[in-house]
Amino acid sequence: MKKLPELFANNRDWAYSVEKNHPDFFKTLAKQQNPEYLWIGCSDSRVPANEIVGLAPGELFVHRNVGNLVVHGDMNCLSVIQYAVDVLKIRHIIVCGHYGCGGVTASLEKKTHGLIDNWLRDIKDIYSCHQDELKKYKDRISLVNRLCELNVVRQVYNVCHTTIVQDAWARKQELAVHGWIYGIEDGLLRDLKVCAAGKEDYARIFKKTSRP
Ligand code: CO
Repeated sequence: MKKLPELFANNRDWAYSVEKNHPDFFKTLAKQQNPEYLWIGCSDSRVPANEIVGLAPGELFVHRNVGNLVVHGDMNCLSVIQYAVDVLKIRHIIVCGHYGCGGVTASLEKKTHGLIDNWLRDIKDIYSCHQDELKKYKDRISLVNRLCELNVVRQVYNVCHTTIVQDAWARKQELAVHGWIYGIEDGLLRDLKVCAAGKEDYARIFKKTSRP
């Protein structure tokens, strides 16, 4: 088995440079984490959460999966949200998609991809909900990118709908849910302006349709 020595060398260099700039950084961090943000993003290797927003270890709690989905029965994602909200008391949940997402692209294809088609089913459902609008996109890239945006909006909606967020808002815990999208081609984030910081915001943002 290859031991990937270059990754260990990279790690030693990184740990040395962090410690050089911030003495006792790791000792302090080992005692506790105190992140203000939960990031729910895509597993895509081109979208590294901490780097994009310039946050250090300890500053961002992260959950990533294919297509940045928040599926109601996904115990993994729900457990992350619960720990972040109830225990870490994070102030912001950021659902961040990205343009050109492979999961979104695959969900639009007629061919099968095996097991992952079950996971992508939720994105297919979003397409069905918005097919009148989406049918107007003649080129594939624009269609995929618009569905990437709609997917983020739906996942923000799903986060807001969890018992975890609903309970936090009911007890007046400060908590906002944001929908962002990242451009792999320019490295920039866009705010999709669906920020919900309480039940009133949530009702206003999502009032037009029962499911965005
Ligand atoms: Co993706």
